[in-house]
Amino acid sequence: TLYLWNDQLVDKNQIKIDIEDRGYQFGDGVYEVVKVYNGALFTAKEHLTRLGQSMQKIGMETPFDLSNLHRLLEELVEKNGLQDGMIYLQVTRGTHARQHWFPPADTPVVVTGYTKEMPRPASLMEKGVKAHITDDIRWLRCDIKSLNLLGNVLAKQEATKHDAFEAVLHRDGTVTEGSSSNLYMVKNDVIYTHPATNLILNGITRQVLLAVCRKAGLTVVEKPFTLDELRLADECFLTSTTSEVMPIVQIDNDLVSSGEVGPITRKCQSLFTSLIE
Ligand code: PDD
Repeated sequence: TLYLWNDQLVDKNQIKIDIEDRGYQFGDGVYEVVKVYNGALFTAKEHLTRLGQSMQKIGMETPFDLSNLHRLLEELVEKNGLQDGMIYLQVTRGTHARQHWFPPADTPVVVTGYTKEMPRPASLMEKGVKAHITDDIRWLRCDIKSLNLLGNVLAKQEATKHDAFEAVLHRDGTVTEGSSSNLYMVKNDVIYTHPATNLILNGITRQVLLAVCRKAGLTVVEKPFTLDELRLADECFLTSTTSEVMPIVQIDNDLVSSGEVGPITRKCQSLFTSLIE
């Protein structure tokens, strides 16, 4: 199995990460998770574009060749013989004696990536999952896919403690997103989801799903909804690269509607699945 380290594919034991890597010390970097279906990268261009945007948003403007990176990722998947799984990819601001301000502009960024086999979550997608409501305590630039995931990690751990698959994050009663996913509710055949502001990560799965829903004639409204509205929803689901379109059938102790996966959620699943099969 090979790993990506800067512009090379190497064995794991060849990789050297300095203890003063800014990703390690500050979480000063950005990342992406890309799915691989049947040996092919799914929506790689979109993920790499977002990676470039995340880098730009945190002032990492070191010359960086995204198309070369794309090629390296394809080579990594190919050489590792990955059929169904994912790629994890991160870029940090590089290595420098610890100081909060940026290192000199010519400090090379540090890129690492690897592949992992991962089947599609078929049985969970079939029966749906439980979610747990918790405060969104994160910072105000959730649009950046930052390595700083402490707020997300704490929320997911809360959810896990409550035997839930995902956290429903809210700011003062307004639902934002999940700890590692985007959230949706369905009311009277209309799909609602938080608009792509600084308060959420604009998921690639979200963008792809909304486009295909609109094309299929479903009504999608990008407008925040509240916890009270969510409690009265007909259906609820989440999306992410690894979870695809995942029904939420229970929120804490309450079933969503009857607790069955609803027809709009099923429609979204089949629309999304049609893109990858
Ligand atoms: N998480 N919101 C947050 C906070 C996320 O971390 C993610 C992705 C998403 C969905 O984005 P996308 O559809 O592009 O995967 C939304 C990844 C999968 C992770 O951290 O593992």
